[in-house]
Amino acid sequence: MKRVFLILTFASFLLGSCTFENVEPMSTECLAPVSYSTDIDTIISVKCGGCHGVGSLDGNLTDYAVLKTKVESGIFKTRVFITKDMPQGGPALPEDELSKLKCWMEQGALNN
Ligand code: HEC
Repeated sequence: MKRVFLILTFASFLLGSCTFENVEPMSTECLAPVSYSTDIDTIISVKCGGCHGVGSLDGNLTDYAVLKTKVESGIFKTRVFITKDMPQGGPALPEDELSKLKCWMEQGALNN
């Protein structure tokens, strides 16, 4: 009986290792660190700064502290990734910029 149990345990281990090979590899999209100063600030200034610059009533997103509060409240993610109505009236952000913004948020939206 003990032997059968051992065989079953071994067989399930083998099966387990077989199915493991079928698991999708983890996304490597956000492995590279995204920099606020070189990547994010540039995207925001160019694509959003026209309406969300200094003195904007809708939030000066070119100011890190303001941008961070919008990220933390979730409104930034909502408008850019869910309702996708920002940039308002303009063409949607290209995939590489969306990816940088997403990864920057995932990495903690640092002022790096
Ligand atoms: C053509 C002008 C314009 C551009 C460009 C623009 N926005 Fe906006 N945005 C607005 C206006 C006007 C509002 C306020 C009205 C509203 O909420 O729809 C707003 C609101 C927002 C809000 C909600 C703020 C809050 O606290 O409720 C966020 C977040 C936002 N924009 C993000 C962005 C981002 C990110 C970009 C660039 C990718 C961008 N916007 C580009 C005009 C613009």
